[in-house]
Order: sequence, then C-alpha cells, then structure tokens
Amino acid sequence: MSVAELRRRRTFAVISHPDAGKTTLTEKLLLFSGAIQIAGTVKGKKSGRFATSDWMEIEKQRGISVASSVMQFEYGDAVINLLDTPGHEDFSEDTYRVLTAVDAAVMVIDGANGVEAQTLKLLEVCRSRKTPILTFINKLDREVREPLELLDEIEQHLGVAAVPFTWPIGMGKEFQGVYDIQRDQVRVFRAGQESLGGAVETLQNIGDADGEARFGYHWKRTKEEVELITGATPTFDRDAFLAGQQSPVLFGSAINNFGVKEILDALVDLAPPPSPRAAVQRAVSPDEAKFTGVVFKVQANMDLAHRDRVAFIRVCSGHFERGMQLKVTRNNKTFRANNVVSFLSQRRETVAEAYPGDIIGIPNHGTLSLGDTLTEGEDLQFTGLPFFAPEIFQTIEVVDPMRAKQLGEALKQLGEEGAIQVFRPIHGGATILGAVGQLQFEVVSHRLSAEYKVAVRLMPARYRLSRWVTCDDPAELRRFTDSYEARMAYDASNAPTYLASHVSEIEVAQKAWPKIVFNELREHSGAPFKKAM
Ligand code: G4P
Repeated sequence: MSVAELRRRRTFAVISHPDAGKTTLTEKLLLFSGAIQIAGTVKGKKSGRFATSDWMEIEKQRGISVASSVMQFEYGDAVINLLDTPGHEDFSEDTYRVLTAVDAAVMVIDGANGVEAQTLKLLEVCRSRKTPILTFINKLDREVREPLELLDEIEQHLGVAAVPFTWPIGMGKEFQGVYDIQRDQVRVFRAGQESLGGAVETLQNIGDADGEARFGYHWKRTKEEVELITGATPTFDRDAFLAGQQSPVLFGSAINNFGVKEILDALVDLAPPPSPRAAVQRAVSPDEAKFTGVVFKVQANMDLAHRDRVAFIRVCSGHFERGMQLKVTRNNKTFRANNVVSFLSQRRETVAEAYPGDIIGIPNHGTLSLGDTLTEGEDLQFTGLPFFAPEIFQTIEVVDPMRAKQLGEALKQLGEEGAIQVFRPIHGGATILGAVGQLQFEVVSHRLSAEYKVAVRLMPARYRLSRWVTCDDPAELRRFTDSYEARMAYDASNAPTYLASHVSEIEVAQKAWPKIVFNELREHSGAPFKKAM
C-alpha cells in the first residue's frame, strides 16, 4: 500500500440546489484539469448538448442529471475523484448515498438566492457525517445579495461558521474581481474569460490608493467589509473545517471560469485524503495493506448495448489490482475482479489498480448489491449507507399480463439498485413502490419501458408512510407481522415493513407493541433480513 498514493487522493462531490451552478462548476473543473476538451459538453439544456455525466435517456430528455456518475482526473500532484450528484430537488436518495462515499464536498450557492431548500437537506447529511465543506458563492457577475448577508445566512441556516477566503469587489456589471484575504492579493475579473487560470491578472499587496484608482468606490467598500468580517468571524481552523464546523467561503462566477482554480487549490490544500471508515466489526484504516471496499451505488443498464449493471465501489483500504480475488461478505461468495472499469465521462476505461478514495466500477449480473462490503477474505461490514422511509407510494401494475414476469425481474433489479423502493405485500396483491420524490416514479416508469420493455400503470396507493420494523425478539416480530398482515410488506432486502396511511396508526401500533422498533431509516446491515415467516 503506497501511502503517497493515498495522500494525494481527494474524493469529493459538488452539492447545490438545482440551478445554482453545480453542472457549470463541474464542467469547469473538468476543463481546467484537461479531463474534457470542450466547454458545453457537460450540459447545454438549450443547445442540445448533454452532460458528460448524463448517461440515461431520461436525463437527455429532461436536461437534468438523474444518475450520479464519477470522474477521475489529476490536478498537479493530486488525484481527484469527483462524484456527481443528482441536482433535482425531488430526487435525493441516491445523492445521500453518494455522499457516504466522499471525503469532502463543495457547496455551490447561487449568490442571488442564498441558501435554498435542497442545500439545507444536503448539508444536513454532510453534517451528520462530519464531512468538510467548501463553499462557493456563484454568479457574482449578476446582481446578487450582499456578501455579508450571505455569510450570515450560511451561519444561521446551515449552522457552520463561514470563513471567507476571498471577498468580491463589486458585483453584476460592476464585478471586478476578488480580494484574496489570506494572500493579500486581488484577482481581476474579466467577463467571458476562458483562460483556465493561466492569464488571470493578479495584483499583489495593492495599496489603498492604487486600489481606489483602479477599482473606485468598490475597493473601499471591499476593504471595509473585509475589516469588519475579519473582526467578526473566527480565524480559519483546519480541525474545525475537518470536523465540518467551519467552511471556507470563496466567491466567483463559474460560467466565466472565475474562482474555479481557487476552489480546486483549496480542495487540494485543505480537504482531507481518505480517512478511516467504520465497520460493524472495527474501524478500517485506509493505509492497511489489505483491500476493502464498499458498494455505494448500483446502476443497471448504463450501457444498453451491454445490458449489464455496474456496482460502484469506493476503495476504503489497501491496493486494488485487477484480477484479484474478492469476497462479498454478505454471502461469503468470492469472485475474481477481472472486468473492472473507471469512468471518465462516457468513456469507460479499464483500471489495473486503484487506491483508497478511488471509485471503481464492477459490471455484474446481480452478484453485488447496494451496501455490500468487499474484502480479501476478512468478515467485515461497512456501516453508514442509509435508506430513507419513502414519503410517496404508488401501486404498480403491468399493462400486458404476459410481461408480468419481466416486471417482477425488473423491479427486483431496480429495487436492489436503490432506484426506487419496492414493497411486496405479504398477503399478495399489487406491488407497491415507495419513493422520496415524485421524479423517482417517472424515472422508474421510463426505465421500465426503455430498458425492460415493460409498460406499466402507476396508481396512487392508500399508504403514505412506512416504517421498517425490527425487534430483538424474533418471535415477537413474527407475532406483530401476523397481527398486521394486511399492511405488512417486504422490501428489496426482505426487511419487514409496516405501511400506514396516517402517522396516528404508527403511534397506536407502537403503543400496543412496545418492543417493536419502527425505523424511519434503514442502514444497510450486511446480513439480509430474514423473512419473518
Ligand atoms: P445546476 O447544475 O446546479 O442545476 O446548475 P447549472 O450549472 O445548470 O446552472 C444553472 C443556470 O445558471 C444555467 O443557465 C447556467 O448557465 C447559469 N450559471 C451557472 N453559473 C453561472 C454564473 O457564474 N453566472 C451566471 N450569470 N450564470 C451562471 P440556464 O440558462 O438555466 O441554462 P444554460 O442554457 O445556460 O445551460
């Protein structure tokens, strides 16, 4: 295990509310590193070009990024793994799981809108995992909110101390650049510049008179605000940042490629390399000699020509080499990892080796499920992969009864993939789908027809809530399941689930069955749930 390889890894995701500029920033990061050549290939809703990460047909139709993807590139000495997250506010379960695979996040905030609903949700996940966050306040080339107000909002709403690293000089048509507080530098903005960092004009130690001569009134204002802010905000403390308590804030304009280099540099300088991860049995350190990894995402039919499904694995420790023998600890099965891919946009490349922090893809036909731990032999189960109790339910029926078997198979795959939650009522009857957001149903219905050639009807179900029920006493769980048979179902992992139309039903059941635990969150436990009957 090469410690040098480990130390140069930076694995992160960009998170934002839709339209804040996540895709634009991602594209600029890739352009900057030379990973892609032409601007506008990541996404162009209006021009008809699509995101590099847009794999699925539905994404092309809607111009949104539904599936998460992974891109690896080198920047200076660093190897950067960038995990794309779906930006649509409706579609968040997948995003949550992707966030379990990163060591840091860049939060993009639209300077005009400030902190928005989706940012809040995503940040909660990051905070619960103590993920360090860098903040990029975007669209300074527009009339945006006052920077002081934005910082205040980040602190108030997100509960992290915002530490400005740069400060804007003017905004909108008057946006002239940023003052780098730490380096006492001004980086001058020119609209439309695509210089990729090379030719940005930088002014060092600029005096007040020179500043005023060049930037006029805005210079004075920036200086005043910086003085105010440095007195009022804590100094940057790397430990507080690593604990997710402080966030460095940088201002810029992603579309103009302004501030992108600074974000990359801050990421390499400040964000941590892979750190130990918790497993049921013990904590696993990335510098351990033996390979371990965790499946944080499974996606079927990424390439329709191949009709395969790919398990995305975050390398947690050791050194991965193609052809090595790996054990799936869930079922003790072993396989040889000969066919392993990494992803750079739509090109799949075969990887020969990988280090902690890297993401590898293993095409398979159902061997690997979401949450699986892979090892060289040790019995280990990584924790922390969440499934959320769905908030919307629909029953699903096949249009052509001759295709019922295909629907069953397709739902099994989509359920295991985590695209949607699939509940089979234990007394039979129509399968119920559960989702966190409405868009998930559209995605699934589209994928059923495009990938599996099954037309379906979706109808609102009478349930609105679900809880995974667990109990230390299996006999008690069986009694409970028997008593509520009409509203019990099994999910894709055979976990018994109680379905309800109203929260009061759960309260009543809880009172009557004090030993039963009604879980809103199911963490992948490795051991598949045994059927209660
Ligand atoms: P998202 O992935 O977070 O949803 O956001 P995306 O990058 O798609 O950006 C949303 C819109 O904001 C896009 O405009 C994009 O061009 C614009 N944008 C991104 N960064 C900046 C910036 O720094 N300044 C300004 N002024 N605009 C920015 P659109 O019109 O919705 O789509 P498009 O046709 O430009 O793609």
